[in-house]
Amino acid sequence: AAEGDLVGLRVLVTAGGTREPIDPVRYLGNRSSGKQGVAVAAAAADRGAKVVLLAANIDDAVLAEVADRAAVRIVPVGTTAELESAAHAAAAGAEAVIMAAAVADYRVADVADEKLRKEDSPGAPPTLTLVENPDILVGLVRERRPGQVIVGFAAETVSSEDELLERGRRKLLRKGVDLLAVNAVGWAAGFESADNDIRVLDADGTVVAVAAGSKREVAERLLDAVRHEIDAAAR
Ligand code: C5P
Repeated sequence: AAEGDLVGLRVLVTAGGTREPIDPVRYLGNRSSGKQGVAVAAAAADRGAKVVLLAANIDDAVLAEVADRAAVRIVPVGTTAELESAAHAAAAGAEAVIMAAAVADYRVADVADEKLRKEDSPGAPPTLTLVENPDILVGLVRERRPGQVIVGFAAETVSSEDELLERGRRKLLRKGVDLLAVNAVGWAAGFESADNDIRVLDADGTVVAVAAGSKREVAERLLDAVRHEIDAAAR
């Protein structure tokens, strides 16, 4: 039987990055590898939770970390719309939701049915018109089950620790989450790397955890904070 401090909990984790099609062969995407979210899914399962992992465009080599765990159900998704419907379906049966995926803020308004061809409009590059995607996290918070703990992530390009926390606190209020994991990113840090360095803010904006190290270590500290929130919500 499963052992650990998360036995009996169902955890929804989203990971990776959504892609928005331009035409049948091209997309708008982002640099998220999915490693941090996959590490959270693996750690939660190892601590006894049943995990649904919504995997947005994650390489098999990254998914390999959880592929052999019976307690992790992997659901692949591609676009933001697919992630949104899968997230709502899975959140209905989860005590904790950890939204680590990098979600495209915009999608292409009119996806071309056929490949856009340079020779069809010589010398006239196409203009992509974008429309805003729904904020999935805000939608999940709106439908939160009693006692459900919802965690957001914020990767920010910042020039100081103060700015990171300040941006994090504003995002926390905008989204209404219970916990927000913030990290500084740049051209070199955060995405493909094996390590991470995060601050976890609670709903008051208090830093409740500082975690630096492997993505697995960071995942463990984040789950400690989630466990603490679930206990606090039950009191
Ligand atoms: O606003 P920002 O994109 O920085 O917020 C990041 C957090 O919000 C992440 O947890 C991400 O998964 C979530 N998000 C979302 N839907 C969006 C954009 C972001 O759920 N459209």
